[in-house]
Amino acid sequence: MALGRFISFEGSEGCGKSTQIKLLCKRLQGIGHEVLLTREPGGTDLGECIRELLQHAPEGENMTPESELLLFAASRAQLVREVIKPKIDSGAYVLADRFHDSTTIYQGIARGLGGQIVSLMNDFAIGECLPDCTFLLDINVREGRERVRARSGGKEDRMEREPDSFFEEVRSGYLELANNNPERFVVLDASKTAQELELEIWDNLDKKYGVGS
Ligand code: TMP
Repeated sequence: MALGRFISFEGSEGCGKSTQIKLLCKRLQGIGHEVLLTREPGGTDLGECIRELLQHAPEGENMTPESELLLFAASRAQLVREVIKPKIDSGAYVLADRFHDSTTIYQGIARGLGGQIVSLMNDFAIGECLPDCTFLLDINVREGRERVRARSGGKEDRMEREPDSFFEEVRSGYLELANNNPERFVVLDASKTAQELELEIWDNLDKKYGVGS
């Protein structure tokens, strides 16, 4: 049976993760791989309800950072066991639009909950299910936010309403995390065109796993 691979995509708002995931999916399917796309929060029936609470529901407006951490962890715990693990075990490629690194950065650093509790929660939620490779799409905060505003017509969700300083912490937190985990992370300059990024991602995966051979 083919070896399943778990690849996550991370980055701040407007970095272009979703576009790259779709492009990579097409390429992998084009050479015969089974591919599953996931997004977080969400990706299961339960997870999509949690997503609504986290992003749009009026009931989420006064959410504390602690509740936020637990809800992201709950969504991920469900996704790992219901979807991701079985797919990897069956030999598929799983391409994740965000995974545990988002919690490390958004809740641990930008919300200030700290590395210790977030690491405990991440371990509890995902067990042994870690990405084989993580692409960090790095973009400056102003450019990323402009892209988000352009695509949403100015309507921002609960996270997107945070100030620039929050997203500056997200950006620097990600770069530091990648720097400390060079064996797993590939950092890409997300101000490049979608086509340039698509090729860089493919080249990296080809070097790591021989996907194109
Ligand atoms: P996105 O799907 O458009 O990337 O939005 C997800 C939002 O949720 C984004 O603002 C990042 C945030 N988030 C966290 O704060 N912690 C997490 O663990 C995850 C998965 C996402």
